[in-house]
Amino acid sequence: QPMSQTELKRLVARAALDYIVPGEILGVGTGSTVDQLIDQLPGIRERIPACVSSSERSTKRLEALGFKVLDMNEVESIGVYIDGADEIDPGFAMIKGGGGALTREKIVASISGKFVCIADASKKVDVLGRFPLPVEVIPMAAGAIRRRLEALGASVKLRDFVTDNGCSILDAAGLSISDPKALEDEINSWPGVVTVGLFAHRGADVLLLGTSEGVKTFR
Ligand code: A5P
Repeated sequence: QPMSQTELKRLVARAALDYIVPGEILGVGTGSTVDQLIDQLPGIRERIPACVSSSERSTKRLEALGFKVLDMNEVESIGVYIDGADEIDPGFAMIKGGGGALTREKIVASISGKFVCIADASKKVDVLGRFPLPVEVIPMAAGAIRRRLEALGASVKLRDFVTDNGCSILDAAGLSISDPKALEDEINSWPGVVTVGLFAHRGADVLLLGTSEGVKTFR
């Protein structure tokens, strides 16, 4: 019987536990795969002095299980950051932000020594862009940024959602992203962009992929 997506997520989440360095602050991402990770953390509670989280959602879940969640300003650096992705390419560049937490995810990733990406096999692609690219924007700039994304060939939707930062998200579908670093730079240069959900300059260091044959590790 084939494994369900939830089982694959639980499996990669369990594999990620091996990357947690005892005594170091753990960076915790957001999403259904990370929820599977959080639910397994109590089993190694004594190794985790505290966490930094990339969303209100993960913070609530961690605190409910008795973990201490620190404000980023109380922390200089983090050993390992574990998070999911919406897509990941062969160079370990990712599209993230399907859950809307891209800005905090990028901030926590930026102070982390190692990014461990946990994903089920459906997330691995040759070229990024089939998953609509999320772009968090200052609300007054949404129209201007929509037009710039459309000029790149995207069809753009304004998500019915307010981010943890009080901003809006545009989802840009139909981009075939062959040079993720260049596109990350370009979109980052537009006034009103808070964060583009392309994690190319700071991509993953390790990918744990849940497949029907078990967890595959790529580095
Ligand atoms: C959250 O904003 C995203 O970046 C998530 O990392 C991504 O959506 C993965 O979520 P799932 O684990 O639910 O697929």
